[in-house]
Amino acid sequence: MEIWADTANTAEIEKINALGILDGVTTNPSLIAKEAGDPIAILKRITSVVKGPVSAEVISVEADGMIKEGTKLAGIAPNIVVKIPMGIEGLKAIKVLHQKGIRTNCTLTFSANQALLAAKAGASYVNAFVGRIDDEGDDGFRLVQDILVMLENYKLQSELIVASIRHPWHVHLSAQAGAHVATIPTAVIEKMASHIRTTEGINKFLADWNKAGKEYKI
Ligand code: E4P
Repeated sequence: MEIWADTANTAEIEKINALGILDGVTTNPSLIAKEAGDPIAILKRITSVVKGPVSAEVISVEADGMIKEGTKLAGIAPNIVVKIPMGIEGLKAIKVLHQKGIRTNCTLTFSANQALLAAKAGASYVNAFVGRIDDEGDDGFRLVQDILVMLENYKLQSELIVASIRHPWHVHLSAQAGAHVATIPTAVIEKMASHIRTTEGINKFLADWNKAGKEYKI
């Protein structure tokens, strides 16, 4: 499963990239709004750090505007994937951008039917926003399973991104389900690397070593 960072913060992206586990990045208007500076400059910086797909979202709500903006965003770097919100206008834009050879990430998909339409229109990626679904008292991973079965049934080319991840267990369930991508907040990626027993173990080894007065003569 690919691991993407769900952030527009370059310092966080550099930190995670240094771990050798980062395959891509997703941004959205809320994430970009949190960062100081020009949005295009922010996206350019991210694409220079990460070689894999970097999602940049359109702001327009009509297909023509989405296509214009999407084409401009795609020009920032070859690894930009244009994020298009689901809907009738979004589907029209996805189709045209696909025909122009521009990769798209159809965002804000909350049902298998939405994902089916996006995949048929030519979206490179469709999403399951598991955290926001769980927030409504439903099961985000039922949707993950449904979309994966549907993509497989018809050999559709889109890949599934598990998005709106809130904690490490969401990542575990994504990998177990066979999702293509999990886009994860950096704090959750850091939590995945830690375990109370790991910390305890390191501390105990060091305490025993120091108590015995050992040292490596290297
Ligand atoms: C996905 O690409 C989105 O940026 C993201 O996962 C949204 O999740 P949220 O529910 O944490 O805002």
